[in-house]
Amino acid sequence: MRELPVGVFDSGVGGISVLRELVRIMPWEDYFFFGDSANAPYGTKSAERIRELTLARVDYMYRKGIKAIVVACNTATSAAIKPLREIYTTIPVIGIEPAVRPAVMVSEHPRVLVLATPGTVHGEKFQHLIHGFEEKADVTALPCPGLMEFVERGELDSPQLHQFLRELLGPSMKEHVDAVVLGCTHYPFVKKAIQTVVGENVPVLDGSEGTARETRRRLEVEGLLRDSSRTGRVEFEMSSPGKEELCRKLLWG
Ligand code: DGL
Repeated sequence: MRELPVGVFDSGVGGISVLRELVRIMPWEDYFFFGDSANAPYGTKSAERIRELTLARVDYMYRKGIKAIVVACNTATSAAIKPLREIYTTIPVIGIEPAVRPAVMVSEHPRVLVLATPGTVHGEKFQHLIHGFEEKADVTALPCPGLMEFVERGELDSPQLHQFLRELLGPSMKEHVDAVVLGCTHYPFVKKAIQTVVGENVPVLDGSEGTARETRRRLEVEGLLRDSSRTGRVEFEMSSPGKEELCRKLLWG
């Protein structure tokens, strides 16, 4: 069991932002990354459809052989983490959620802007999450349909992307913002462009490091960590062809 790779799942290439952190803190592990780019975006689909796609893809990964599953997609976590935990009781199942918790700590009663897919923003899980911070902060969510597509195309710094972001974020930036949360795993790949629009002094946070740390903790607790003197391998599989080069570029730079 310990010899199996860690499975990392996303609707596309975004989950590589989490994979990057996993490889950084556990370079000795093997990883099997699966991106369902043929069905992306997930974020504009119904919760039922996202759940159906996620369960089918994770089932495929489990059959191939993985010792843990990291759902490196906020949208899929929101729609499917509960049934996944009910189905896979013998391996760790780790999800990701927008990093609101660290963001509300940046100042006294901060104004926090969360960027995420429509699926995540309108999901019950997110509503529940922000409800818990009502007293401590003013949390506003901004659905960003169309943004993940730039990353899927490998378009991380084009004038069109900057224009798109200015139009999308402009109205929300009219008021003072203390922190921005990237609540979709695709967005860290366009963090530089987002930072330019929101201002260099505004902290822009994401949940990839926390998710990687939680994965390491779960593997440790379950006695599933491998010998740390070895160098692990990464295997990519995407449901649409021709994406491998982009995957490698996003992971290794
Ligand atoms: N990467 C996914 C997330 O973290 C969403 C992208 C999509 O809409 O498929 O929410």
